[in-house]
Amino acid sequence: MDFEKENAHKDDTFKVPANLKIPNHLAVTMDGNGRWAVSHGKKRTQGHKAGTDALRRLVEYSIKYKINYLTVFSFSSENWSRPKEEVNFILRLMRNYINSDLEKLTSNNVKIRIIGERVGLDKQTLNLIKKAEEKTKNNTGLQLIVAFNYGGKAEIASAMQKIAQKVLNLDISPSDIDEDMITKELYINDVPDPDVVLRTSGEYRFSNFLLWQSAYAELIFIDDYWPDFNEAIFIKTLKEYSKRERRYGGVEVK
Ligand code: FPP
Repeated sequence: MDFEKENAHKDDTFKVPANLKIPNHLAVTMDGNGRWAVSHGKKRTQGHKAGTDALRRLVEYSIKYKINYLTVFSFSSENWSRPKEEVNFILRLMRNYINSDLEKLTSNNVKIRIIGERVGLDKQTLNLIKKAEEKTKNNTGLQLIVAFNYGGKAEIASAMQKIAQKVLNLDISPSDIDEDMITKELYINDVPDPDVVLRTSGEYRFSNFLLWQSAYAELIFIDDYWPDFNEAIFIKTLKEYSKRERRYGGVEVK
């Protein structure tokens, strides 16, 4: 796909429809690559390849509709248990994605950030992650946050370890620990919580994605497999979000 040409964000004539409420932060569990592949008589790995093209489309729509933060679940800490061939394929896809799209993402003012555990990742992958983050760190447009080797429980455990160390050092006492302190010790702490968590493929689970951050997120589930994601589905998601009334535990004020 010609990202440059497809990408409409430079087309200032595009106006986001007034009746659409645009989430500041959209998070997406890109699920159903394997089932999409099987339903098309293809290998599962082909589903991940098609899923990468769907991710390219999602980034393009997010820029076009002026979403500020987009977090995508690309590889969970539990995904290592898949067949080695599939794991290696997904890792290669990730690297290829950065290699092939970094220039375009940079020129489209996208800031790339990766969340997840880095310990145990191979050097090649680590270097690419660093390169992508470094090259785009001063960009001011869409923040594309890729959850890679990510688990929500592991993220909270890692934050708790850092806080426990502070208690041990007598820098703080246990009664100082509050929600803000935990939030500050997450993988990144300068990104607002997601307004919407979208999951494709008709599965209704968190699957360990952004557990702390999703406390008040609107959950939207759609039946389509991830590789079929297109602008119509994107708009359907925004329309669904626009209908939701967010009360954060309070009551509706008339
Ligand atoms: C879930 O589908 C998808 C994944 C585990 C991998 C997601 C990866 C990509 C979209 C491409 C690579 C990522 C980047 C950032 C370039 P599944 O395999 O669990 O599908 P199934 O539930 O139908 O088996």
